[in-house]
Amino acid sequence: MKKIKWGILGLGKIAGKFAAGLKDVEGAELYAVASRSKTKAETFAKEHEATKLFSSYEAMLEDKDLDVVYIATPHVFHHQQTLLCLDHKKAVLCEKPFAMNKKQVEEMIAKAKKENVFLMEAMWTQFLPHFLFVIEQIKSEKYGKIKNLKADFGFPAPVDLDKRLYNKDLGGGSLLDIGIYPIFMAMSALGMPKEIQAKANFSETGIDEDCNMVFEYDGGIEAELSSSIVKKTPTTAVIQLEKATITLNTRFHEPTSLTIKTPKGEEIKEFQVKANGYNFEAEHVQKMLLEVKTESGEMTFARSLQLIDLLDKVRDEIGLEY
Ligand SMILES: NC(=O)c1ccc[n+]([C@@H]2O[C@H](COP(=O)([O-])OP(=O)(O)OC[C@H]3O[C@@H](n4cnc5c(N)ncnc54)[C@H](OP(=O)(O)O)[C@@H]3O)[C@@H](O)[C@H]2O)c1
Repeated sequence: MKKIKWGILGLGKIAGKFAAGLKDVEGAELYAVASRSKTKAETFAKEHEATKLFSSYEAMLEDKDLDVVYIATPHVFHHQQTLLCLDHKKAVLCEKPFAMNKKQVEEMIAKAKKENVFLMEAMWTQFLPHFLFVIEQIKSEKYGKIKNLKADFGFPAPVDLDKRLYNKDLGGGSLLDIGIYPIFMAMSALGMPKEIQAKANFSETGIDEDCNMVFEYDGGIEAELSSSIVKKTPTTAVIQLEKATITLNTRFHEPTSLTIKTPKGEEIKEFQVKANGYNFEAEHVQKMLLEVKTESGEMTFARSLQLIDLLDKVRDEIGLEY
């Protein structure tokens, strides 16, 4: 069977993890890697056994055999680089957040539709077994309806302007980087809220160091969500249902276990996960490409639009502009 030829654009931290995950994906070949630095591309290609290396992103996109590009650069570049890949008729899996705002995401989607080329946001949590199991429990109402949801993501990151987290020009801040996960959890479990309240503290560099949000839904149901790059927080998601409390244990956005507490007792449910978890989104993309789909049936355009809409609304509330 023909292997799917992957290319990675931007060889930072997440690129390395994705490349490691790809090793466990049947039918995948790490065909190309592209960096702005030749030395970096050489080192990365050697470590991850990539077939080809490029010292410019554009040069990689000229390769006629490349099937799909994984964009792993800071958020501010996602929009322009996705358009560039689509111009070259390359399928795209682009890191989260998909782009800096809804207008950009709409343009990316319109372009993918125009070129008839596959595009998906790399929201890897969507494809993880524990997450899929939880969503199934919620949808089936096995434990009744949701009464309340709490999700947080926090870790102290050293202040370093050379790194993207504190750098406003690179789209830094807690909300877009990690706040997106609690928001994604609430959106997946409860849908779109009718009201949003949010507060944030800002760093000297003008990015949100932390962000506390309350999403309000019909029937007085609330989702309490937070992100922080100044303090460690549990990084769990706790869903209170009528007949059980399900906790996605730390760290809830990556492969993990669940604790299901009912009046009868407590069960810990483990999930067998090969590789590091990035394999699942890559497997899904390959399936979509083999089926000649141009949109994911799971991480759909509609879901990406809802997600960026929520991020935009929280940004409006806290007054965070880029
Ligand atoms: N799914 C996940 O679990 C996960 C985890 C972490 C991050 N992410 C997402 O992945 C993206 C990248 O995050 P990361 O932590 O990998 O970032 P990073 O370590 O800073 O790497 C980003 C890479 O982007 C490239 N780049 C291009 N222009 C750049 C510029 N002007 N400044 C800095 N880098 C530039 C660089 O690659 P070259 O030097 O090789 O060109 C750099 O190594 C972000 O959007 C983030 O939200 C996702």
